[in-house]
Amino acid sequence: MAFDHRKYPAFRPIAKKDRRWPDKVIEKAPTWCAVDLRDGNQALVKPMNVAQKQRMFDLLVKLGFKEIEIGFPAASQPDFDFCRKLIEENRIPDDVKIQALTQARPELIERTYEALRGARSAIVHVYNSTSTVQREQVFGLDRRGICDIAVRGAQVVKDFAARYPDTEWTFQYSPESFTGTELDFAVEVIDAVTEVWRPDEGQPVIINLPATVEMATPNVFADQIEWVCDKILRREHVSISVHTHNDRGCGVAAAELAVMAGADRVEGTLMGNGERTGNMDLVTMAMNLYSQGIDPELDLSGMSEITEVVEACTEISTHPRHPYAGELVFTAFSGSHQDAIRKCLALRKDGDTWNVAYLPIDPFDLGRRYEEVVRINSQSGKGGVAYVLERDYNISLPRWLQIEFSKEVQKAAETNGGEIDSMSIHSLFERRYLKVHDEWALRAYDLHRDDQGVRAEVTFGFESAPVRLEGRGLGAVEAVSSALENRFGFKIAVEAYDEFALGEGTGANALACIRLTADGKHCSAAALAEDTTSATLQALFSAVAQVSGQVGEIKPIQENIKERAISA
Ligand code: KIV
Ligand code: ZN
Repeated sequence: MAFDHRKYPAFRPIAKKDRRWPDKVIEKAPTWCAVDLRDGNQALVKPMNVAQKQRMFDLLVKLGFKEIEIGFPAASQPDFDFCRKLIEENRIPDDVKIQALTQARPELIERTYEALRGARSAIVHVYNSTSTVQREQVFGLDRRGICDIAVRGAQVVKDFAARYPDTEWTFQYSPESFTGTELDFAVEVIDAVTEVWRPDEGQPVIINLPATVEMATPNVFADQIEWVCDKILRREHVSISVHTHNDRGCGVAAAELAVMAGADRVEGTLMGNGERTGNMDLVTMAMNLYSQGIDPELDLSGMSEITEVVEACTEISTHPRHPYAGELVFTAFSGSHQDAIRKCLALRKDGDTWNVAYLPIDPFDLGRRYEEVVRINSQSGKGGVAYVLERDYNISLPRWLQIEFSKEVQKAAETNGGEIDSMSIHSLFERRYLKVHDEWALRAYDLHRDDQGVRAEVTFGFESAPVRLEGRGLGAVEAVSSALENRFGFKIAVEAYDEFALGEGTGANALACIRLTADGKHCSAAALAEDTTSATLQALFSAVAQVSGQVGEIKPIQENIKERAISA
């Protein structure tokens, strides 16, 4: 059996008696650093070309990132060239710091400074691996040997910075594979590095703690971060950064808990591109803050531009369920969800805080349209169908018709096997309920009310051969029904009818919907007209027309009409 969990040792939890982070609440955005152009780029099947890098850089600047890792210039000529291009073509805004990664090797550090020459300000990011597995199996070095690499690297970083005094330098150190490093050793290395850099004497320093591989639950990572924050020397003089990967699918959660545990800064990529399962997704984490009423200090309102640029640069498409950004993340297909959303949106008033069932944030904030929220397939119910007709066609249906029509929509969706769009729903409604056959078209009506009720005279049918009927009843519908009963010799029982005044844009002023039994058959119809009475009477004729189509003996209506035709 290859599938054997016993192969894997469990990650040992951190024995921590003074755990405080679970009670902390994030109240402000961390400093963000986007590593799309380095960690993200390193992980691509086809690394970005210069045009793609420039496009990504410009997007990151536009979104508000102030720290952007632009590459690993000492390891890659294209990264070196891109770094030079940014500096020489003056493409870095004054308030943005570029960051370049280098291993803690003197010749690579030297080359990194060459790449960064002339920058107004820059972060030199030096790393070496510190975990047990890397020490023992990759480098064959003990703790001392690994710490020496870090200290020597820190010294070379400091020495080269002194050669380029015109640039404002920030130094960053990452104990790579931090999550697999014994905490006391991580602290020992960090202290040794800051002993060289002396942030307490004014040198800006970032200590970046990477979950190079996500090895445990996010709470364990938070414990590791809190532990380091508590134990390192010069804590108040360094910025603690985290750089999580998503191997267990918790990259964002780990970064969030790490911020609760004391991290000041978060590295990640847009949409989470990066090695293996990716880096921490900056879009998700920033939007999580936003949805809690915290300014993320990034402008993510143009989400479609973000996904378009990321897709074009990484050649990776966005999952339709990607948090906040996917095509389907604000869409409800399920009937009960649609109903709840419709009710909450209808109750919302300007200035209300957001409180809509099933929608964690207002899709509008990300440039999405409410049209996308309710989409119809065979899982949808009456609420969704009614919502679409109301939203797109200003047509409100009575509840009984919502129930009846949604079944028809469901049947149509089942038949086509997928989604049914708003236009198809409307044309189905038109075909099924609104269609007026010429032989049943209302031409004129005259209603007289006296103490016995209403006397109705109606003219309908072909324009060239209209038919006139007369009847009496307590109201107009009853009077016209009785005229039809007399004319065709069957009983009409009106079960429901509703009239609505219509808003702008429908080309009619009124909609009437009617459900009746004629000759023992159920039928329903709707009509649009200039006024509510015309709409109601037309709906009545259209409903009876359906019975005439279903019942053999009434079929000869056309001849009847002709027989009784009156001259126009
Ligand atoms: O994942 C990682 O450890 C890295 C470091 C170089 C920061 O990308
Ligand atoms: Zn990484």
